[in-house]
Amino acid sequence: MCGIVGYVGHRKAGPIVLEGLRRLEYRGYDSAGLAVLDGGRLALRRSVGKIENLARLLVEQPTRGQVGIGHTRWATHGAVTEANTHPHTDCHGEIVVIQNGIVENYRALKAELLEHGHVFRSQTDTEAIVHLVEEYRRESGDLVTAVQRALLRLQGASAVVVLSSLDPGKIIAARLGNAGGIVVGYGQDEMLIASDMPAILDHTQRVSFVEDREMAVIEAGGAQFMTLAGQPLTKQIHVIPWDPVSVAKEGFKHFMLKEICEQARSVTDVIRGRLDLDKGRVELDGLRSFSGESCRDIRRFHSVACGTAWHAALLSKFLIEGLAQVPVDVDYGSEFRYRRPLLDPEHDVLLAISQSGETVDTLAAMEEARGRGLRCLGITNVIGSQLARLADGTIYLNAGPEIGVASTKAFTSMIVACYMLGVYLGQERGTLDQPSRERLLQDLVELPGLVGRILAEGRDYEELAQLYFKRRDFLYLGRGINYPNALEGALKLKELSYIHAEGYPAGEMKHGPIALIDENMPVVAIAVRDSVREKMLSNIEQVRVRGGIVIAVATEGDEEVAEKANHTLFVPAASPWLMPVLTVIPLQFLAYHIAVRLGCDVDQPRNLAKSVTVE
Ligand code: AGP
Repeated sequence: MCGIVGYVGHRKAGPIVLEGLRRLEYRGYDSAGLAVLDGGRLALRRSVGKIENLARLLVEQPTRGQVGIGHTRWATHGAVTEANTHPHTDCHGEIVVIQNGIVENYRALKAELLEHGHVFRSQTDTEAIVHLVEEYRRESGDLVTAVQRALLRLQGASAVVVLSSLDPGKIIAARLGNAGGIVVGYGQDEMLIASDMPAILDHTQRVSFVEDREMAVIEAGGAQFMTLAGQPLTKQIHVIPWDPVSVAKEGFKHFMLKEICEQARSVTDVIRGRLDLDKGRVELDGLRSFSGESCRDIRRFHSVACGTAWHAALLSKFLIEGLAQVPVDVDYGSEFRYRRPLLDPEHDVLLAISQSGETVDTLAAMEEARGRGLRCLGITNVIGSQLARLADGTIYLNAGPEIGVASTKAFTSMIVACYMLGVYLGQERGTLDQPSRERLLQDLVELPGLVGRILAEGRDYEELAQLYFKRRDFLYLGRGINYPNALEGALKLKELSYIHAEGYPAGEMKHGPIALIDENMPVVAIAVRDSVREKMLSNIEQVRVRGGIVIAVATEGDEEVAEKANHTLFVPAASPWLMPVLTVIPLQFLAYHIAVRLGCDVDQPRNLAKSVTVE
């Protein structure tokens, strides 16, 4: 979604805000702009297209001021034009506003403001905000009051940042609902704000978070926090362990490739410090409110997520039911609250899975569950994210920043987190004895090495990409615990290369998809050594006898699969519970190399955003 950056301090704001926007490119955008307070006046610089266009504009028309805000826009209302690019100004050019989210009642507000003589120059919902602020500042004479009153008129989720030449040296940031976060960064005689940590990590790792119905008034010497009702707030300062280097590409061609290749480390990091091998115990500090009796009361999980995280939610069903015998229902975040789910507040727990912790549909599912009295357990990669703050207990992925829009290392870490949760529940509920747990933990300890072997043994992904990059349709097949990876492999391909791809349970082939089989549509089949291998072999034969092409993912040494398939990508043998961590990696590489061969924008695929903070 949209990216937000702000700076106030002793340095020039323009270059700092621009670099911050660059760090947020992965959030997806159609245009970018910034405003700097320059000699008492607001200097506006806006451009459509890549951030580089804005950078060129700043070279041609530099700004000198030391207070500024910037925005990358992912269009929701209004075409991709310079006029619709944020920041938006009031009628006199004395106030600018940037926003993430949607003003659901902007038409009514706009009609009211037009009647009051305001002139609108864009088609955006955001512009209604700046005119509201102008109206209320004129009435109250105070910018903070004006922003409070304006925000309370809005319906829908919004993160809003305001800068005015009438109140120089001050940036005001406010939040309504879950439209993406606002992080306040503490520097040396300078302050920053951003929608995401990577935008400010070059300058500080000390941050506070503005939450729903709260606002911050930021000046070079610090920040004041309050509710939208004006109630002063004291905010904790968090130290974020991410460093700027981990946010850089480190020599890789794309963030996505770097993050695929980081998976031996990220799988290690999600495990680190959480296993007691001597006692065969999983220790999840973040789950203190889900231990002992409070854990034994759980009779059902509702696992809710979106996109790739939803595929991890499907895997959470296999892992938690298989390892701890606790029933799990799985829902898309965007469906859960609309189907009026049957929930038992005494015994049900909502399990929310989200890399960003800011996906509005997943957060809305959490709000629904909390409103119905359920406890929420979260799995996320971002410390201080909205999900982490809503959850009663959180398992952090500790995967470091995932910049590529296509999720890779976060997904494999989600699987491991769900595996550890399954063992933890078995241990706390007494359904897994110590010898069983010791075996399960030993399998886990061996996993990073197996991941490392796949990453180290470069396979002929590029050759496969060369063969098939022009195909227009792919079918991905898997069974049992490897069925979700058929969906994930298909999602990776379609979101990176814009090729149509479908994932299916292989057993469903005969109920329809088999009609699609011909020599034009490659079929990727996950056929590892497990309880359904024979059935996968049959599926591969069904495809081949109809002239179809099969790219198999198989267990090392399984020559029978290799004989039947056109191409085989081998992975090491591992516990069936953990095979999805291994079988997804060849699918990540295949999608990556096909997208590169097509010349697609791998880290920022068209129309996509890293964190979907609007419905
Ligand atoms: C994954 O490759 C996609 N970028 C997308 O489906 C993503 O998984 C989804 O938007 C959920 O994001 P989250 O994990 O941050 O909630």
